[in-house]
Amino acid sequence: MGDRSFATATVHAGSRAESGFGALSVPISQASVFSFPSAEVAARIHDGHEPGFFYGRMGTPTQAALEAAVAELEGGEAALATASGMAAITLALLACLEPNDHLVAQGALYTSTAALLEEFLEPIGIEVSRVNGCVSEDLQSALRPDTRVVYLETPSNPLLRLSDIKDIAKRAHRVGALVIVDSTFATPYNQRPLELGADLVVHSATKYLGGHGDLVAGVLVGRQDIVERARWRMMRLLGPAIAPFNAWLVLRGLKTLAVRMERQNASALEIARFLAEHAKVPAVHHPGLETHPQHALARRQMTGFGGMLSFEVANAAKARRLIDRVELCSRATSLGDVATLIQHSSSLTQASLSEAQRKRAGVTEGLIRLSVGLEEVDDIVEDLAQALEAV
Ligand SMILES: Cc1ncc(COP(=O)(O)O)c(C=O)c1O
Repeated sequence: MGDRSFATATVHAGSRAESGFGALSVPISQASVFSFPSAEVAARIHDGHEPGFFYGRMGTPTQAALEAAVAELEGGEAALATASGMAAITLALLACLEPNDHLVAQGALYTSTAALLEEFLEPIGIEVSRVNGCVSEDLQSALRPDTRVVYLETPSNPLLRLSDIKDIAKRAHRVGALVIVDSTFATPYNQRPLELGADLVVHSATKYLGGHGDLVAGVLVGRQDIVERARWRMMRLLGPAIAPFNAWLVLRGLKTLAVRMERQNASALEIARFLAEHAKVPAVHHPGLETHPQHALARRQMTGFGGMLSFEVANAAKARRLIDRVELCSRATSLGDVATLIQHSSSLTQASLSEAQRKRAGVTEGLIRLSVGLEEVDDIVEDLAQALEAV
């Protein structure tokens, strides 16, 4: 980013890429095959010894513009854009791990990430230690001399718990382990894990980076050697490449990231405060609330508290009734959209968990997750207020 502000960088990042005819918008380079000026140049580009494009799976000009933009916004040496957030997570982990390696993972993870560890990485011989809670002391006891990766998601889903990235990175690096952070909930507007010592950041760009609920994409960003391994080994073999049009959509979304996040941060905090005062809401989870158990860490580690919150009503029946009664909020999964999205966690994203797993993750039957959109905040509050009357 250099000296320019984050908001300025969001508008201009990535636009230095070859745009032809002076177009301010990066063109959608709809090509999967690229020609070379000579056989020698062809060989050098193909082997990754010279920058350039040769085949769509390994990169395209529009994708490269997106990668440059995300690398700049996160402060990373390099980035790799992928077809989905899960592809970014899979490539990141496989680029860092070999069979028989040891992985320490935060206990509360996005359910598909948790399933990736359990149903894919463990069966191929990667040993996984799960740490309940997000506190550094728990992690410390799980770290071993053969730990290769510590994997975090902060803030976490759906309880918005935080991990102390700086402290964990220090402890992990002492045993030679890499730190990967899923920063999807925060975005680089609110948190820059690489500056806190993480080695790699992964995003579901489907969420805030794209921001409009009209694409599926992912990105991993950080140390050049790891990103290059992800591209030249894992992308080459597994192939979850991003389509040029989707890369362009994420780039377009990024241009408004700062203004969207500024508004979503402010609205989410206001809604969290409204809910915290409401008699029918026994608990609200949002890092911006002074009552959040890690509010001090949030102030230290984040530059904004984010647009996500969750809250509890008495039981599942009441949660469903409330969700059925909202008129403005959209009943939908996913997050980071311009529209406010509401979901009953235990029947959607946490539905694949057993009751015991849900309990361990702190997901109560009455837990509702809200991804705050760009509507006027008073309108969202009014919608929630009228829906709460029904419960
Ligand atoms: C925190 C987090 N990480 C990763 C993902 C996976 O991203 P995608 O759906 O783009 O594959 C999600 C999806 O909901 C998520 O919430």
